[in-house]
Amino acid sequence: MYKMERIELGWDDFWAELLRVRHRRSIPGIQHYDKLVVDFCIESLCLSKGDEILDIACGAGDHSVLFSEEGLKASGFDLSSKLIKYAEELAEEKKVSVNFYRGDMREINFDQRFKGAVILSHSFGFFNHAENLLVLQGAYNALIEDGKLLLDLMNPYQIPRFQRTWTALKDGYLLNEPLHLDAPSGVLRGRPVTYINVEESKIILMNQDAVENNDIRMYTGLEICDLLESVGFSKVELYGDNKLPRQPYAATSNRMVVIATK
Ligand SMILES: C[S@@+](CC[C@H](N)C(=O)[O-])C[C@H]1O[C@@H](n2cnc3c(N)ncnc32)[C@H](O)[C@@H]1O
Repeated sequence: MYKMERIELGWDDFWAELLRVRHRRSIPGIQHYDKLVVDFCIESLCLSKGDEILDIACGAGDHSVLFSEEGLKASGFDLSSKLIKYAEELAEEKKVSVNFYRGDMREINFDQRFKGAVILSHSFGFFNHAENLLVLQGAYNALIEDGKLLLDLMNPYQIPRFQRTWTALKDGYLLNEPLHLDAPSGVLRGRPVTYINVEESKIILMNQDAVENNDIRMYTGLEICDLLESVGFSKVELYGDNKLPRQPYAATSNRMVVIATK
């Protein structure tokens, strides 16, 4: 009987590139979406050409590069060395200058340098409560006086109805399982993703490290305001979408965008 080899691989070894580069860049209209998000961020953070912005959990640098193309001094920060390499290649290809840093967002160590910081595509809530707070503390320290942090989050009252999806990529098929909200813990649990590499006859599964990367602690607007104020932010505003014009935040909003001023 014909049998495919099954292997388990970690986030940085395999999944980062597959999900954040190959899968993301295959989504129809994603460049247009990114541009709308970047325009929203620049206006909401009151940024002008030459201002410094930090893109926390920048992935493969799609937004960092767009910020730089808009005349900002952009820096991107991510855990994955593979994604940082892709981000550097993208900046080179687009002929813009971006500083990319590899590191853990619980240990951001910039001192009062940036006028704006962003955490996009719901890249907040990956850890336990105390560690999530460390992320906000690091972002606060990285901002200059009056600087602003923007978090682009799913609306906890409108969590999308995730579907089981198959996506055809160049050499195989990606199976995404629906996420599931564990209500008592407030954690949106990621399900292991599977990649079937037809050309190499391999089924690639997530190892423990990659699976753990999938869980997200969901916060309500009130909780996030409390967290931000506890690390020192003086003003916190909520909006209902990540595109202009800014929309008020409501239970029915598409997103929950949080803007905190130092
Ligand atoms: C949902 S992706 C978002 C990427 C990008 N901001 C975007 O909008 O496409 C989450 C990112 O967080 C990064 N990440 C996960 N854990 C991290 C950590 N502890 N420190 C820094 N980055 C982390 C992942 O490598 C991944 O690139």
